[in-house]
Amino acid sequence: MSPVATSDRAALAVTGITKRYGERTALRDVSFEIASGELVAVIGPNGAGKTTLLSILAGIASADAGSVSCPPRDVGWVPQQPAVYSKLSVRENLRLFARLERVADVDAAVARMLAQADLADRAGDEVGRLSGGNKQRVNIAVGLLAEPRVVLLDEPSSSLDPRQRERLWGFIGELASRGTTVVYSTHNVQEAERYADRVLVLADGELLFTGSPRELESTADRYSTGGDFEAAFVRFLHERGH
Ligand SMILES: Nc1ncnc2c1ncn2[C@@H]1O[C@H](COP(=O)(O)OP(=O)(O)O)[C@@H](O)[C@H]1O
Ligand SMILES: [Mg+2]
Repeated sequence: MSPVATSDRAALAVTGITKRYGERTALRDVSFEIASGELVAVIGPNGAGKTTLLSILAGIASADAGSVSCPPRDVGWVPQQPAVYSKLSVRENLRLFARLERVADVDAAVARMLAQADLADRAGDEVGRLSGGNKQRVNIAVGLLAEPRVVLLDEPSSSLDPRQRERLWGFIGELASRGTTVVYSTHNVQEAERYADRVLVLADGELLFTGSPRELESTADRYSTGGDFEAAFVRFLHERGH
């Protein structure tokens, strides 16, 4: 993939991405731009292509057509399944991944992430013994060690209880407010509505909508029978043939 020219504000520009798995088209001619410091939700039902899209942006998977403006080295990747070692402590995991990422000052990066992810008092604990919420913050901290301009999170809250979710969104919101561009996927419409500046709606590999949560709400509202955003969203997808 070759870089494409983008406007100054764009942290990430995606142009005409198509991805096929055999006969199946997982993404069809998807294009969008994301501004620096934006907090963006990619929402859509299971199988919509969310993970495929984020993996291509992260440089883990390759597209069959199209281009991504941001080189993978500028992108932090937080997979849905934590890719950390459960037998190592929080600090040991952070040190290991900082070295793998060739971070210049390993000690400083580890200390920064322990503070930022609010894990300093858990630094010596085995990751396998942590709660789901703490484990997920370790997973995210690993993705942030190299201080990427853009961080991608695949379904970051899907395995968390409501209290852990609140804490996770506090952490992610702070990242964005400090200027990191954050893109996450979710199948939870309410979550996208609450915790995003902008939403991208994917269904069956097609980008159906991009706009603010409010704009999506007013689009979906036309399908609503009474204030239930999720039901309206499902009707919106249905109306668009999905
Ligand atoms: N490695 C793969 N091989 C074959 N098909 C795949 C592979 N990964 C994803 N798919 C298919 O591509 C489509 C999009 O999948 P995915 O990106 O995982 O969607 P989502 O994350 O929105 O649930 C689905 O139909 C899925 O079955
Ligand atoms: Mg997925």
